[in-house]
Amino acid sequence: MTPRILLIISGGIAAYKSLELVRLLRKRGMTVRAVLTESAQQFVTPLSLGVLTENPVFTDLFNLKDEQEIGHIQLSRQADLVVVAPATANILAKMANGIADDLATTLLLATDKPVLAVPAMNVRMWHHRATQRNLERLHADGVHIMTPDDGEMACGEFGTGRLPDPERIAAEVERLLALPKQDDPLAGQPDFAVGVQRFSTSLETNGVRLAGRHILITAGPTHEPIDPVRYIANRSSGKQGFAIAAAAARAGARVTLVAGPVHLPTPEGVTRVDVQTAREMLSAVESALPADAAIMVAAVADWRTADAADQKLKKDGSGQPAPLTLVENPDILATLGHHAQRPALLIGFAAETQNIAGHAQAKLARKGADWIVANDVSGDVMGGDANAVQIVTASGIEAWPALPKGQVADKLIAKVADALSPRSD
Ligand code: C5P
Repeated sequence: MTPRILLIISGGIAAYKSLELVRLLRKRGMTVRAVLTESAQQFVTPLSLGVLTENPVFTDLFNLKDEQEIGHIQLSRQADLVVVAPATANILAKMANGIADDLATTLLLATDKPVLAVPAMNVRMWHHRATQRNLERLHADGVHIMTPDDGEMACGEFGTGRLPDPERIAAEVERLLALPKQDDPLAGQPDFAVGVQRFSTSLETNGVRLAGRHILITAGPTHEPIDPVRYIANRSSGKQGFAIAAAAARAGARVTLVAGPVHLPTPEGVTRVDVQTAREMLSAVESALPADAAIMVAAVADWRTADAADQKLKKDGSGQPAPLTLVENPDILATLGHHAQRPALLIGFAAETQNIAGHAQAKLARKGADWIVANDVSGDVMGGDANAVQIVTASGIEAWPALPKGQVADKLIAKVADALSPRSD
């Protein structure tokens, strides 16, 4: 059957890109019904959407004709997927709070179908605590959320908040439509839905077993500047570290999450410190001590430039690139391993592409850690949603099956709680 998309367009400058999105979805064989909020109509007209969707366009909750012919409840349920693109900070706030004060938000509250929100907004609005809090809540509610792109904004500022390319949105729509549909409303919704289901399980298994404990976590990459516009970094989405922070908070711990530059909302109940470079990360980690356990998940850049240029490096016409002198960054894990305030339990991660366990064993000793969580990154672990890890300790190796990152986090936190508990009894 032809996949049916209900496309809700809210009012941002990126709304004009919804026309291209409609074209791409239709090209992929989907039928599209469009709903425009009042402010979206300032950017695109119902007429142009009507022509492109070849369907009536809906704008008004109290339009009796539409109500008689279809009704808003039906409209919200006659789709296989509801897509909100662009999703402004305003509509995300309404969705997170269950506000239904126009047709678009009423449909979103009434639907029983999966929802994909594609945010687009000014960079400061994106990073605002309120928006991040709303995104976190929407994640927990099972809404799929795409991360906006970085780039120059319509307002002239630069940063995260641009609507992802319509091609990318269309691909994500296709991916979500292909997920298994089951009676369970949470089934078929990956990572965060698993997180929601896990939530109850982890509460049962972990309870508040980490209450009164301080868990320190690093996550994401570091960016080491070359000049004001270029940097050295590792590939890391931060997803695994953020999932561990969320799991630790759910288990009742006080959690400090030192995060490199990533586009992820702060998990509920977690204190987040944002840093850019390895040296900043080390200093934030040391400031957060003492901690009962430290879990160093960050993919820290091993090197930085000896001194970053104040001005953008230019090609000088000689054909010779500007020389880069690299110096080694501090090893945060090893520093903690030999620190006067060494946490009772110190856990490192090892991303390897070969001889996983062998390298992890060596790392354990070299860095003075208690456990190394080794993962094979030869596949698409970086940025992906699943992870197969081996826990390497002085007493042996425990291999876990491939699991969503949320479940790896829950299992690891349960193991941390076990390791810490004898000391508290
Ligand atoms: O040596 P390698 O980078 O593979 O070690 C990975 C582990 O060490 C991870 O836990 C990572 O967070 C930590 N690390 C660190 N500081 C560095 C490099 C790695 O804390 N400069």
